[in-house]
Amino acid sequence: MRIPLIAGNWKMFKTKAEAVAFAEEFKSLYGGTDVQAAICAPYTNLEALVEIFRGTGIGVGAQNVHFEDEGAFTGEISVKMLEEIGVDFCIVGHSERRQYFAETDETVNLKIRKLLTGPIRPIMCVGESLEQRDSGVLFDFVKSQLEGGLSGIAPEDMKKIVVAYEPIWAIGTGRNASPEQAEEMCAFIRQTLIDMYDEETADEVIIQYGGSVKPANATEIMNQDEIDGALVGGASLKAPDFMQIIDF
Ligand code: 13P
Repeated sequence: MRIPLIAGNWKMFKTKAEAVAFAEEFKSLYGGTDVQAAICAPYTNLEALVEIFRGTGIGVGAQNVHFEDEGAFTGEISVKMLEEIGVDFCIVGHSERRQYFAETDETVNLKIRKLLTGPIRPIMCVGESLEQRDSGVLFDFVKSQLEGGLSGIAPEDMKKIVVAYEPIWAIGTGRNASPEQAEEMCAFIRQTLIDMYDEETADEVIIQYGGSVKPANATEIMNQDEIDGALVGGASLKAPDFMQIIDF
């Protein structure tokens, strides 16, 4: 039984004061729900969010991490540092990090492996560009991202990993993938996991869709069989909008 995970990805938005204001408002709106909700925030907000959401069931995530334990890596944050704060999730391999910060399948794999040494669950992002979709290589491309990013990861660990399908052309564009397009790729991702692992393992993996998810389209996206959640950018910045998405 997969419990849906709807996570906000704030990207580089919200100062600590703004994050605290959001968290207080969101906590007051948040009632009982069948889905797991989480906010993936800038590092500077994580400690405050963990504190405010303590005991509510609302999760907190980081948006990136380094794969080394420690060392001379100016500007980087380690898994141990995140564990100490008590975050639940960490996004790995978002397309913006692949595009602007030279993230590769290899570094995605190293980061996931390091996260899996502790309790933080990786949210691994995959997804094709518009050019790749139009030229028909979308499935091959996503398969190669899965095989590269998940290389050497054992079935028991795979169950802890969340896969987020985020077609690059749907991110921040207002142009979401149709529910059918999203379902088709999420079903392909599950089939690929069956091929790489086995049916029982693949069955337990949470597969999210991300890309222009908003209150108006959350229901039809979440109602797809193979879509177990959403990774929400812009619409997670306002507490009432994000609450509406969770209540889809
Ligand atoms: P938008 O919801 O703003 O399109 O962003 C999606 C995203 O990149 C989430 O990680």
